Order: sequence, then structure tokens, then C-alpha cells
Amino acid sequence: MCGIIGYVGSRDCAPLILEGLKRLEYRGYDSAGIAVFDGTRLKITRSVGKLANLEKALREKPLSGTVGIGHTRWATHGKPSEQNAHPHEVNGIAVIHNGIIENYVDLKAELSAAGSVFKSETDTEVIAHLVDQEAGRGKGLFEAVCAALRRVRGAYAIVVVSEREPGKLVAAKNASPMIVGIGDDERFIASDVPAILPYTRQVMYMYEEEVAEVTARTVRVTDLHGAEKTREVRVVDATPAMAEKGGHRHFMHKEIFEQPRALMDTIRGRLSADRKTPLDGEMPGLSVPGAVKIIACGTSWHAALIGKFMIEELARVPVEVDLASEFRYRDPIVGKGELVVAISQSGETADTLAALREARSKGAHALAICNVVDSSIAREADTVLYTRAGPEIGVASTKAFVTQMAVLFLFAVRLGLVSGRLDPARAQALVREFTHIPSLMEEVLRLEQKVQDLAREFMHASDFLYLGRGINYPVALEGALKLKEISYIHAEGYPAGEMKHGPIALIDEEMPVLVVATRGRSYEKVLSNVQEAKARGGRIIALVTWGDARTREIADRVLEIPDVHDLLQPFLTSVSLQLLAYHIADLKGNDVDQPRNLAKSVTVE
Ligand code: G6P
Repeated sequence: MCGIIGYVGSRDCAPLILEGLKRLEYRGYDSAGIAVFDGTRLKITRSVGKLANLEKALREKPLSGTVGIGHTRWATHGKPSEQNAHPHEVNGIAVIHNGIIENYVDLKAELSAAGSVFKSETDTEVIAHLVDQEAGRGKGLFEAVCAALRRVRGAYAIVVVSEREPGKLVAAKNASPMIVGIGDDERFIASDVPAILPYTRQVMYMYEEEVAEVTARTVRVTDLHGAEKTREVRVVDATPAMAEKGGHRHFMHKEIFEQPRALMDTIRGRLSADRKTPLDGEMPGLSVPGAVKIIACGTSWHAALIGKFMIEELARVPVEVDLASEFRYRDPIVGKGELVVAISQSGETADTLAALREARSKGAHALAICNVVDSSIAREADTVLYTRAGPEIGVASTKAFVTQMAVLFLFAVRLGLVSGRLDPARAQALVREFTHIPSLMEEVLRLEQKVQDLAREFMHASDFLYLGRGINYPVALEGALKLKEISYIHAEGYPAGEMKHGPIALIDEEMPVLVVATRGRSYEKVLSNVQEAKARGGRIIALVTWGDARTREIADRVLEIPDVHDLLQPFLTSVSLQLLAYHIADLKGNDVDQPRNLAKSVTVE
């Protein structure tokens, strides 16, 4: 949500800021703006809609200068409009912000009573007024920002620039991500690494309630009360090419095809030489918890549901899976001796972060499964397992999802071995089969043409039902989510056995029913469900394992994928469902990488 970039150095920064915003587009936004100090004044340009509109406005009225800030806004308070777009400026002080200021109504009333005139409906504008008020009391920009933020409650990542102190930017962070990039006599500020990758890989991560004063050559970090902090500079393990499409039409397509490689990266170095004990190095003292609770949102929640099958089957430890946004508001029963696993691609999802804090405060041990290194969730957990998928730019998660499942699988095997409930020979056989998944995934990717044909046939449906049983049920949920996210077709994932308790009423000859019917424990039962749907006229698309003649007889269309152990099947079924959603959305001409209203990283609750 909301992309942020700031620059201070010697380059003409408007094009660089615009470029940076483009690299952050995937975060989701509905308006954008930029402020540049032109040597005398701050000049601001804002526009509603895509960055192309801002680009056009900048072509008509170019901005020039070597210090500036830029922002893509995902509306929370106030509709997407030019007036509500950031930066918000008050008396030569401009602010961009990601997050939500919870006490903005009170602050706005207080500031209005003192004479401030508000020009937008946003919560952000109170920050600009507060900083201006503090500056009016004689404080320098840095002190004014610290003082303003001491009065603010909520989540923020902000960058402030002032006409009166033009050679610097002041950035602050609380519960929303923010990094400082270090170049040669130039500094960058951004909400995410891809924005600055073409210029530098040297990055300083900001922590909660920290403020940074950034000039072309210096970075000073303190807490809100001015106490100095030392933050190390790290070299990020990503290249600009990783944040580019590399010949693919969309990032999502590229990321779907990167999955075999991503999986190999996830596995690399995590298996012992004899392939018997995964995660030895990262979890040497793992003790067996009484229970595992997994918390996540969106696609990560689907990975969690799949993880439950893996952990319960291999380690026989009871697992509860919760949506993070539900977990924290029901006074969850969790505590010492339990393990809470927070799964998050971004590591910044506000609900997951808050749920993790809640669980830790109650005494649980927290394990994070994250993609973004050094993200808030990764930092706050007791243990982290990184998914190593590389930057995921498409809003609809793909490679992060399969690598989350991979980490969960390795963890489940490890827990099974530590608990003594998984026979080492079985573990070894399973792990060996798991290491073949990347190449089997390549085979699934080779089915693209077939999937595209299916997409063409079904792209005009208005509703889809996705059915699965057992571990295939969360696969159906994820398949349906992918489809609705990017194609805007209403899709529902349902446990196949429950179909007759409701969704069967929806089935008619217009309704495609996609059934995940791979061979395995619940195969026979699913086949009965397929018959039931067929008897009501439903158009059946079956996702089956190689050589399945029985389902072929019943289904209208069949997609065959390699046969693997039940617990590993989601790695292959998910990929084919990603491809189907992708091609339907692409054929419809949708903006696949930036679907309407969605954000990549949801940093508000
Ligand atoms: C957003 C994204 C989803 C993602 C979810 C959770 O809704 O659009 O793709 O699954 O957030 O994000 P996380 O970063 O916590 O995995």
C-alpha cells in the first residue's frame, strides 16, 4: 500500500522519483504525486489514477531540482482525488505518508481551532500541520517532525521536505516499512527495495518509532525523543533485473515461471547431506510444542491451511489456523509451550504483525515465515525462516505462496523427526520426492497452451466454483482467490463434501465447476462429488493426475498433472490454477499485475 520514494543528491530527481514510483506500482494505488524543491520553492504535481497521468502532467509542466519526494496513494481516508493525493503541503513543508493516523480526528479539531485550514479529507494532512506548528515554535525540521510524531497515534512511514531546510529529507517509521538507500553522495528513501535497486544495493532498514535525518552524504537516526541509534548498512541480495519483467508480458507471468527456480532457492542448504534432516542449521534446538497456531492473511493464509495438513500428518502436533485479523480480536487462548507461526510474504501485513505481537505478549514462541528480509514480522519473531522467493511484484501472490508451502513442508518434516513421530526412512523418502518437485513443476508449466485454451473457453463465465477435499480444499480456495483477484470473476472455493449443503443450488449449465481431483486419500469421495455436480448440469473442469481415465469419463475438460505424494500435490495443482487465472485475466485485457482496489502489502488494519 502507498509507495514512497525520496531523493537528495545532485541528480535532477523528478524522473528518478517517477521511475521509483513505477517500481512501486505493484503495491497498489489510485493516485500519485511528487514534490521537488526547485532552488527556491517546493513545486508539487499530483494526479488521480495511474502514473501515466502524473507523467503526462510532468511532461506538460516539468519539475526540476535535486531534492524531492514522490508517493503513490491507496485511499483510506478520503476518496482518490487530486486534493487527497500526497504530498500534502503546509507553509513550504511537504509530507508523504503510508499508514493511518488513528487520532487524526482529535488532532484535526485541535489544529483547526488553532487556525489551521485543511485542504484535504486525509488523515495525513494533520502531520503536515503538526510539523508546521512545531516549526512555527522555532524548531528545526528534524525536531519539528519528532515533536509532531510524539502527538500522533497510529501507523506511519513518512518523508518530509521543507523549503527552509532544502538539502535534507526527514523520514520516520512506525509499523509501516521504510528504508534508506546509500549511494555516492546521494541518499534515497523508499518504502521498498525495488524502488532504489537501479541506484544502490546498500540499504539501512529503519525500525519502529525511528526518525532519520537524511542529506546527500549523511544519515542520522534517532528515536522520537532524539536519542541516537546506530543502524548498520546492509547489501541487499537482489538485482535490478529481479524487479523487471525479463521478456514476460506481466510480472505475474514471470513469477509463475520462476517458481521451479524459487523452490530450489528455498531448499538450497536446508537439507543435510544425507537428505534426512531439513533445517538443521536454522533450527538446531527446536523443541516440540504442545500446539501450533498459524496466523496469516490472504494467500499466505491458504499456505497456512496447507501447512496444517503437513504438520499434523508428519509431526502429529495439533495445528490451528487463524486469519490474523480474526485472531487478535477474540482474546486467543495461546501461551507458553505453544508455537505461533506468522506467514507473510511482505512481512509487513498490519494484521499479521499485530497478531504476532499479541501471541508473543502471551508467552508463545513466534516463528516467522517471510519473503522480505528484515521486514517487521521477520524482525519481531523469535525465529525466522525466509522463503527466498526473490522480489514478488505481481499483486496476486504466486512464487511466495509455493515457497511458503515449501518452508512449511521442511518444517513439518523436521518437527516430525524431532518429535520421533516420523520414521526417518519415511522422512528421507518424502524429502527425496520433494526435491523432484521443481522439475515436475516445469512439466506443469509446459501445459500452458492447454490452460490457455481452457481460459479462452471459460473466460466469459460470471461465476466459478472450485472444489477440493482434504489438502486440495485450500488449493481450491487459493485457485478461486487467484481468479477473482485478477479476472474479477466471482469465484468460490468450497470443500467438495460440503457442496451438497449449499453451493449445489448454484450449479447449472452456465456454471464452471473446477474440481481438484488428484489421486490420493479423498479421490473416490471427490469423484462422487463430481458426479453430483455433473448431474446438475455443471460444466466440469477436472484437475487430475496422469492417466486418470475415470475422471476423464465424467468431466467436460481435464487437465493432467504429475502424480506425487498427497502432501506434495499442492505444489503442482496450485501452479496450474495460477496459470488458468492468469490467462483468463489476460484474455479479458485486465491489468494483471495491479488489479483494481488491491494492494500488495496491506499495512493498514
Ligand atoms: C494482500 C496481497 C495478497 C497477500 C496478502 C497477505 O492482500 O494482495 O497477495 O496474500 O496481502 O500478504 P502477506 O504479505 O502478509 O503475505
